[in-house]
Amino acid sequence: MTRPTVLLIDDEENLLASLIYGLKAHDIDAEGAKDAPEGLTKLERRIPDMVFVDLCLPDISGIELLTTIKARHPYLPVAMISAHGDIRVAVEAVKVGAIDFIAKPFELEDIVSLIRNAADSGPAGRRQPPRKRQVEEDQNEPIGNSPAMRALREQVGILAHSSARIILLLGPSGTGKGLVARLLHQTSARADGPFVVVNCASLPENLLEAELFGAERGAYTGAHQKRIGLVELAEGGTLFLDEVGELPLALQAKLLRFLESRAFRPVGGAAERIANVRVVAATNRNIEDEVKAGNFRADLFYRLNVVPIKVPSLAERRADILPLAEFFARIQAKVEGCCPITFSPATLEQMTNYDWPGNIRELRNLIERLTILHPGQVIECDSLPNELVADNSPIPHGITEQMVTTERDILHRALRQAGGSKGKAADILGISRYALKRRLNRLNLDGK
Ligand SMILES: Nc1ncnc2c1ncn2[C@@H]1O[C@H](COP(=O)(O)OP(=O)(O)OP(=O)(O)O)[C@@H](O)[C@H]1O
Ligand SMILES: [Mg+2]
Repeated sequence: MTRPTVLLIDDEENLLASLIYGLKAHDIDAEGAKDAPEGLTKLERRIPDMVFVDLCLPDISGIELLTTIKARHPYLPVAMISAHGDIRVAVEAVKVGAIDFIAKPFELEDIVSLIRNAADSGPAGRRQPPRKRQVEEDQNEPIGNSPAMRALREQVGILAHSSARIILLLGPSGTGKGLVARLLHQTSARADGPFVVVNCASLPENLLEAELFGAERGAYTGAHQKRIGLVELAEGGTLFLDEVGELPLALQAKLLRFLESRAFRPVGGAAERIANVRVVAATNRNIEDEVKAGNFRADLFYRLNVVPIKVPSLAERRADILPLAEFFARIQAKVEGCCPITFSPATLEQMTNYDWPGNIRELRNLIERLTILHPGQVIECDSLPNELVADNSPIPHGITEQMVTTERDILHRALRQAGGSKGKAADILGISRYALKRRLNRLNLDGK
């Protein structure tokens, strides 16, 4: 059996030496790096089974190094080590892809078991693209073969290989713009480079600029370390500007400059740099309306809108509803450890006729909920939420009389079958004796 390998990036040389020594006793080959550049160089030479990154490094923060490593090697397990058990940092680390967060001082056994798990769960060559099965689980490959989806795939294929440096994805919320952005990257000549995501809606204006373009040490309050911007991290790859419609006006000007000249300047930095990235931007807003309302710069819109791709709503590709539902059912079944749910013909009909205002995200959430509530079962209409089963067909005239007649018939039949006993009739109907009495009263059937 091959020995697990691990790379430790920490500037405390004593700690490194003692960890390497301790891990050797557990048959683990450990290698140390005292800073980020050394760590990245070692990773270029050999991919270990796992990496540990210290939060406080001399030149850049551990979180930034973690982001860089994950951008280059998305499938490599990385854990964060920190002297402070700061929960916010731990959350941030996990968000950018750390598999664990370990507070110092820790026991050797803690990290030994992490390394063994990582080594057991896959070969070290994690740089290779994921295998077919993983592709399905990670949803890198959009599901659906409807005409609208085929047209979208074709457009993505053409643009991915084109020289377009800016691509705009438009479409309502939950239609899969994130997935299309990833596909544009993976099928392009830049696929070996990083795919870096910036959510323009999630950061305040002052942080967003530093996040995008980087910042020199001391450039703003709290900037204790030099910060590498996401534009720089995306070098040679794709920068995905998600929710670009939310970008604050002040930053829109800077983004425009960057898109036009490829030049950017870190906050507090003197020198300009030129980036080699393709920018894919996405929004679910109608940007033309935002331009009219004065919330979005017209010049930036024209710059972004050179090659737009419209991602269709689910209602525009109903043929994809069933394949998507079955796909999500398979995924969720694995999560729950059960068989995938299936759908009765009537349920399928309701699902296909429904308009899905929340698009694929709404469908996915529903399948997750149904799998949790009815694992492995056939889903009947009565398990669907109201909005899906609501019948919107016109109400026939005289329906109330029909309802009364139907109710009267049913009550009569129940009483007949029960030999006139109201208690038994209530049981047959599955309602309480009191409820039966009330209905009989209302229909003037009481005592008849
Ligand atoms: N064709 C598809 N095949 C499989 N899964 C898909 C497909 N399209 C979207 N999804 C899944 O649907 C969910 C919603 O997609 P995504 O987050 O990309 O939507 P979005 O268009 O970016 O929405 P928003 O504008 O609200 O951010 C995700 O879980 C995504 O993986
Ligand atoms: Mg999105």
